[in-house]
Amino acid sequence: MASLAQPDAIDAWFSLLAPTYDQCVAPLFWPEKLQQRPLEELPIHPDDRVLDLGCGTGETSTHLGNAAVDGLDRSRDQLIRGKQKDALEPVRFVQADGAALPYVEDAFDHVVSVGSMLYWSHPVEILEEAARVTKPGGSILVMGFHRRSLSPWNPIQTAQELAVAPYYQRHTRAEAAELFRDAGWTDLEQTVTGPAWSPNLVLETVARQPPASSSAEHREK
Ligand SMILES: C[S@@+](CC[C@H](N)C(=O)[O-])C[C@H]1O[C@@H](n2cnc3c(N)ncnc32)[C@H](O)[C@@H]1O
Repeated sequence: MASLAQPDAIDAWFSLLAPTYDQCVAPLFWPEKLQQRPLEELPIHPDDRVLDLGCGTGETSTHLGNAAVDGLDRSRDQLIRGKQKDALEPVRFVQADGAALPYVEDAFDHVVSVGSMLYWSHPVEILEEAARVTKPGGSILVMGFHRRSLSPWNPIQTAQELAVAPYYQRHTRAEAAELFRDAGWTDLEQTVTGPAWSPNLVLETVARQPPASSSAEHREK
């Protein structure tokens, strides 16, 4: 597998995966059980507008209840699979890059993004765009890959860490916190989680946009 540092390589990779993504990749790395708890904990109300950023074939969008969901992704082939699913008929699928979201400011109540951040070579740009389109007080949930420190006591962990290093963007809690704060997100809550076969694989970050009053105070200063 070539390095996934370039957008073209990412697109080619997800075109290749599209026909079998739901059967092979999603259950292994982003199983329903892993996504369900953090998505249910978000304060999403019926009719809220939610952006599923890097929605792929729409597996995450299926857990967003009665919200009005936009599923956005770079990959045309992943979106085609999502559009074919009857359960996702109400979802508005949009092909675009997360670094240039085709929405006005404050368009969404919440942003969710599962399994996409590991492909973002400039994550602050995308998190800033997410902040721009999220209403004051709105929240974001991002699930990406967690980077554990190399361990002389655990050669298997060290081998796993070194093996995936060239392919995916992974972050320690501190690295991820800095990215979110730099992009204007506050009230960070982080959880290390993962599928049963690798319980530390995933770093989950929930954060919020400052409420309207504090944005106004910020502008007045
Ligand atoms: C592993 S899939 C996640 C799909 C879905 N959230 C799930 O849980 O099954 C990651 C998706 O992120 C998309 N992606 C990666 N970088 C992106 C970017 N900069 N802008 C938009 N989509 C991106 C890829 O095209 C891919 O479809």
